[in-house]
Amino acid sequence: MVIEEITGRIARDLEHLKQFTATPGNGCTRLPFTKEARQAVDYLKELMKDSGLEVSEDAAGNVIGVLKGEDPDAPCVMMGSHYDSVYNGGDYDGIAGVICAIEVARLLKEEGITPKRNFVAVGFCDEEGTRFGTGYFGSGAMLGHRDVEYTKKFSDKDGVSIYDAMKEYGLDPEKVGEAAWEEGKIGSFLEAHIEQGPVLDAENTEIGLVDCIVGIQRYMVTVNGRADHAGTTPMDMRKDAVDAATKVISKIADWAREKADGTVATVGYINTVPGGMNIVAEKVEFTVDIRSRNNDNINDIAARIKKALEREVKEFNGSFEIVNKLTITPVELSEEMLDIMENGCKERGYTYKRMLSGAGHDALEIGQVLPTVMLFVPSKEGRSHCPVEFTKYSDFAKAAVIMQSLAKELLLK
Ligand code: GLV
Ligand code: MN
Ligand code: MN
Repeated sequence: MVIEEITGRIARDLEHLKQFTATPGNGCTRLPFTKEARQAVDYLKELMKDSGLEVSEDAAGNVIGVLKGEDPDAPCVMMGSHYDSVYNGGDYDGIAGVICAIEVARLLKEEGITPKRNFVAVGFCDEEGTRFGTGYFGSGAMLGHRDVEYTKKFSDKDGVSIYDAMKEYGLDPEKVGEAAWEEGKIGSFLEAHIEQGPVLDAENTEIGLVDCIVGIQRYMVTVNGRADHAGTTPMDMRKDAVDAATKVISKIADWAREKADGTVATVGYINTVPGGMNIVAEKVEFTVDIRSRNNDNINDIAARIKKALEREVKEFNGSFEIVNKLTITPVELSEEMLDIMENGCKERGYTYKRMLSGAGHDALEIGQVLPTVMLFVPSKEGRSHCPVEFTKYSDFAKAAVIMQSLAKELLLK
């Protein structure tokens, strides 16, 4: 199969999938357990079926296509990514990795090799966590990390729980535990993804070989003060939640800058209550997202935030709450599989570099427990999580070719 034909097939599939968005003309909004998610899943099932795979949808909404090997009970080679998106995101984040996995299955079939073990292409449900403030739902469920209690615990902006959203969508949340694979059934996991950052594009490098994915901690912080008149309440007699919160917030980026290891910290959301120009705020809510390849850095920044909050609210006898929304440790990816991919790049003359992923991925969840590897292709100007996200279809074809040679080596072992 020549690369132009591979490019053509990937382009056809991704162009078709672009229409499944709740915000046509303004990027991809494909939240989990929605009409758009169902449309994408139905199309992925069709593609998998046409590619000769045995297709199923599991209890967590993951879509699964199996290319049967000689020993279907041997640990499989799994490849995939997610089919959901953020609000007004791009057309490639996640879904391109699902299409690359299906393309690898097509290439394996066309080559006529008889795999010793199953090759499994997967489209994961709800990696982003956009709707329910969580993340890695489908991949976590496959590993047995999600149960019915979890589906009842988290709700979207309209108060709809994962539990109710799943029911409405036609899945039984009581059975979410059934999505878990028996230990030993998944031998290795491969994920192709857009870089979502500027490095490969800026350096004109074709392939990123991801050797580490950062750990992540996410918090929702609430600082409680007291609402008062902005003109009549002297500065030493107020309980100003904004004053206290911003003293902490203003330090967070500097604490991240002090660290190495790709450490970043982001306050992406701030809300003041009641939010009036002439009212001292009684409450401030803000989020913190801290990432690093060194977990000690994340823990240190989280601890400094808590200490600073204690100090600042003490100043006026206020209070605060800090709720942990996500804690996941960094993962080092499989050296053995990285070496195979590096050889594949050398053979084909593709430029490549080893690199860190600052974004979270299904590979972060799965890499906690299984041999895992990731490959990046360039994102134009590093733009992602926005409608202008762009990667050339021919770059996805290169990813599929490199992943196919890795998969082949693993499948024939
Ligand atoms: C997901 O894309 C994340 O890294 O937040
Ligand atoms: Mn994303
Ligand atoms: Mn993604």
